[in-house]
Amino acid sequence: GKTIIVTGAASGIGAATARLVQAWGGRVIAVDRHQPADPVDAFFAADLSDRASIDALVAALPAGAHGLANIAGLPPTRPAAEVLRVNFVGLKHLTTRLVPNLADGAAIVNLASLAGLDWAEALPAVRASQDLAFEDVEAFCRDHGIAGARSYFFSKEALIAWTLRHRWTWRDRGIRMNAVSPGPVDTPILKDFVATLGARAEQDMAVMDRAGRPEDIAPVVGFLLSDASAWIRGANIPADGGLYAHVLDRRH
Ligand code: NAI
Repeated sequence: GKTIIVTGAASGIGAATARLVQAWGGRVIAVDRHQPADPVDAFFAADLSDRASIDALVAALPAGAHGLANIAGLPPTRPAAEVLRVNFVGLKHLTTRLVPNLADGAAIVNLASLAGLDWAEALPAVRASQDLAFEDVEAFCRDHGIAGARSYFFSKEALIAWTLRHRWTWRDRGIRMNAVSPGPVDTPILKDFVATLGARAEQDMAVMDRAGRPEDIAPVVGFLLSDASAWIRGANIPADGGLYAHVLDRRH
């Protein structure tokens, strides 16, 4: 079995991914602010919005993991700079610091979102964000007019672009990175999307047969962590009950 580091493992999609990895015979190293309720093989508490906490985490994590599932994330109800730190800057920092300690052939999977699919429309800011450091987040948000719920969208746009950009960065070691973009999923933060996105969230839900469940997303993450996806690199896979196709179809 593989050893997979799962961030955000205490709740929602991260918890479902941890259960799936174990059901498939793997070991889970959980990372979260909170202790997971479900049994995991190891748990490391960390604040993924904070560089020092991430550096301490990287020093503490065992070497040789076969996968990293970057699932921790904050909803658009949180302050803009904090959202950008957890959903993008911290994820980027953890991943680049951890790669030297991962096994050759390891797979990295980033939880993006349907909210990030228009990344190409925000290109100048998305390009400027790709090497964004912790200490520059506030100034970056100011300079690019990223405030309120926009920060959630931007964090996912930047993450999708970053995933595409690093399709071959670690190819010499066989390390791959991909993203998954869910539509609305029934977890504790679904109400925060509805609260901040208002009419748009209601329109989305009105055309859906149902909201997604964490168990709808975990197998996509699991596939991208497995050797079955060996030739998939720098991809962003929607898992949204058809909502992205609906949005595109309506637009064009
Ligand atoms: P959730 O709120 O159930 O789980 C998120 C987990 O991340 C929590 O356990 C939380 O403690 C952890 N976390 C948040 N900030 C942290 C920090 N600073 N340090 C350490 N851990 C931290 O949310 P859910 O829905 O499972 O979301 C998982 C991912 O899926 C997120 O990246 C989210 O943006 C993404 N997503 C969720 C959708 C939804 O409708 N629920 C839709 C599309 C994407």
